[in-house]
Amino acid sequence: MKKAYRGELLHFIADPAKVALIDSYQYFEDGLLVIENGLVVQVGEADLLLKKLSNDTELIHYPHGLIMPGFIDTHVHYPQTEMIASYGEQLLQWLENYTFPAEREFSDLEHGKRVAEFFLTQLLAAGTTTALVFGTVHKASVDAFFTIAQQKKLRMICGKVLMDQNCPDYLSDTAASGYADSKALIEKWHQVDRLQYAITPRFAPTCSKAQLDKAGELLAQYPDVYLHTHLCENKDEIAWVAELFPENTGYLDVYDKSKLLGRRSVFAHGVHLHDSECQRLGETNSAIAFCPSSNLFLGSGLFNLQQAQQFDVNVGFGSDIGAGTTFSMLSTLNEGYKTQQLRGDKLSPFQSFYLATLGGAIALDLEGTIGNFTKGAEADFIVLDYTATPLMARRMQHCKTLTEKLFILSMLGDERHVLATHIMGEKVTE
Ligand code: GUN
Ligand code: ZN
Repeated sequence: MKKAYRGELLHFIADPAKVALIDSYQYFEDGLLVIENGLVVQVGEADLLLKKLSNDTELIHYPHGLIMPGFIDTHVHYPQTEMIASYGEQLLQWLENYTFPAEREFSDLEHGKRVAEFFLTQLLAAGTTTALVFGTVHKASVDAFFTIAQQKKLRMICGKVLMDQNCPDYLSDTAASGYADSKALIEKWHQVDRLQYAITPRFAPTCSKAQLDKAGELLAQYPDVYLHTHLCENKDEIAWVAELFPENTGYLDVYDKSKLLGRRSVFAHGVHLHDSECQRLGETNSAIAFCPSSNLFLGSGLFNLQQAQQFDVNVGFGSDIGAGTTFSMLSTLNEGYKTQQLRGDKLSPFQSFYLATLGGAIALDLEGTIGNFTKGAEADFIVLDYTATPLMARRMQHCKTLTEKLFILSMLGDERHVLATHIMGEKVTE
């Protein structure tokens, strides 16, 4: 099965923050993406590659769209889909008032499947093709999510939440049951098709030291599964961690002492990190999910991207639904830009789109598999449409450079500008 997609084409090959801008991406005004059996064969100028196509290749032309790799959401909660936009609270009250009651429903497998179906449909419509996803404390929530993701042939990472203290009884596991349930889910789902498992302690306040240690034990047994949790999101949360874990030197140290840092560890937020913590994340190859929509919505603070870059920490974007208020990665880039403006820092559109694609792939240790059009990568890609709304179409008439185009896409864009989403080379959206 050979297909070739023709159109304006962009993908990243390096971090614009680390190399000369011109060396960080490939851009073809009239490009061709050649795919065989769902994998990328080649990308380049259309006029050169069209001549070399074999006769049995199906050619699809997007004359008015920008083709790029699918977006990667490095932190999101599918069970919070139906409580998105809950009013008035910062993190800890928001969890108690809205989040925990919503998550209670996910003991029911069928409820989980219904929400997962809706959630994944929304993600795909927004152009996001891979995500690192929280379930709930219930095993069934992960079974439901993976069942639907598998039907849709998606590359998705999910895990059962571990929480054995400071939470309602109806959402509580134990160190032993959380370990056993996670292990069973790893055995059942990890590396099945394109599904991967993440050991998912909710955050330090809801996990006993015993539970975090068991999570570290499990990670040592299965070194290619992920570790996914929250870190330094909110000032009250950080003060609470200091009270709960007085013997530790700081919030990150709680996870570190339980051996939870590493190449496949992703920490959401990291809004209030000390330099020493950032350094530790960098030297352990851990990643941060930058969730600007959530950080603004919950009033958590302004993520310091420059600090993360200074210590060479891998960073991806996260929507953090339901604390984030949009499935759209384009809208998330908009919020990200504004958080950096409030810090007095400039987030360039190249850096934004890098973080949303290849940067996210690197944060998830999936470089070469997703995130760009390197040979052999899985052909999960999207087509963005500059003309989907009258305002963007009009604004685009006044722009001349790729930089401007990307910036406008990220400022004015949302789900409406995602013309098509393709999974393993096949179009899956209308
Ligand atoms: N910290 C612990 N749990 C959560 C959650 O569900 N959402 C966010 N944003 N932060 C958390
Ligand atoms: Zn979160």
